[in-house]
Amino acid sequence: MDAETNLPKGTVLSASDAAAIRLAGRIIKTGGLVAFPTETVYGLGCDAMNADAAAKVFEAKQRPQFDPLIVHIADLKQLKMVVGSLPALGQQLMEAFWPGPLTLVLPKQPAIPDLITAGLSTVAVRMPNHSVAQTLIREAGTPIAAPSANPFGYVSPTTAQHVADGLGNTVDLILDDGPCPVGVESTIVSLAGPQPELLRPGSITIEQLSTVIGAIHQTATVNHKPIAPGQLSRHYATRTPLTILASAGIRPILKDDERVGLLIHSQASDTDNRFAAVEVLSATGDLREIARHLFATLRRMDSLGLDRIYAEPCQEEGLGVAIMDRLRRCAAR
Ligand code: TXA
Ligand code: MG
Repeated sequence: MDAETNLPKGTVLSASDAAAIRLAGRIIKTGGLVAFPTETVYGLGCDAMNADAAAKVFEAKQRPQFDPLIVHIADLKQLKMVVGSLPALGQQLMEAFWPGPLTLVLPKQPAIPDLITAGLSTVAVRMPNHSVAQTLIREAGTPIAAPSANPFGYVSPTTAQHVADGLGNTVDLILDDGPCPVGVESTIVSLAGPQPELLRPGSITIEQLSTVIGAIHQTATVNHKPIAPGQLSRHYATRTPLTILASAGIRPILKDDERVGLLIHSQASDTDNRFAAVEVLSATGDLREIARHLFATLRRMDSLGLDRIYAEPCQEEGLGVAIMDRLRRCAAR
């Protein structure tokens, strides 16, 4: 029960009700946790200036404290509360992609609690392109720190129901605005070093970034104490083992007693009915459609008690880089 609101934990309210967003803003302001939609995935939000509230986020997600949070802002006035200095490249990227699914890692303001940034001298910040997220931040009157609203390591949530399934007993309120339009997390670019560095591929593509800042350095995957734990090789993972097929159209040989799921982005063939479950992410191979459906489909398949999931790869261009990144992390174990 939330002391302020008397609502049971995990209450879901429609974000189309302005009173629900006002209430959510008050919960954030008084140190509580609100799950809210963004264009990418649902976030688990708290007041970014409040270390006690941030501690609740880590506890709710069972997230290791070396893994810093992204701070979400509604306007450029709030940027000054979060970021210490802004290099010219940062200005250019913000002009090109904000509000939108691009997170920038920049020198931090001392007022941001160390827990939010895992003791780093930098902070990750983004301005989401989602009216509910923006209204919530304005109602709260403070930047909102929010990781994806899932237990650490599991597939990110793209619906309010996904949040309730994973964190229903820890979050004070869940704002529901239907499925997230993009479906994979933001792209993370660090501007804290001598050169811009891509820390996590996401829905702003490398090609899009390059049009603004030229070639961008890409960090290799590491296994512990990563700069961006999106870099942990096993992350975004289903409980069911997942294998990526060698190419689209290829099918695995199945053992008699195996219950196997197939995740594809092409037409199912007549013989695909031998699989226990077949999900088509996009019949035409449209990358945006694949991204939008990816996490919900992985979760659905993961709930079927299958022995294994096989997934078709997609071409690694544009949004396909982020999609393949998430599939590979899901497959790593
Ligand atoms: O689309 C998104 O980015 C979603 C929505 C809710 O905004 N959020 C999200 O948050 O995906 P999360 O916590 O699941 O991933 C945040 C990533 C982590 O990999 C974290 O390590 C990295 O951001 N990060 C945060 N602060 C950082 C910093 N100062 N330096 C490097 N990486 C940082
Ligand atoms: Mg996450």
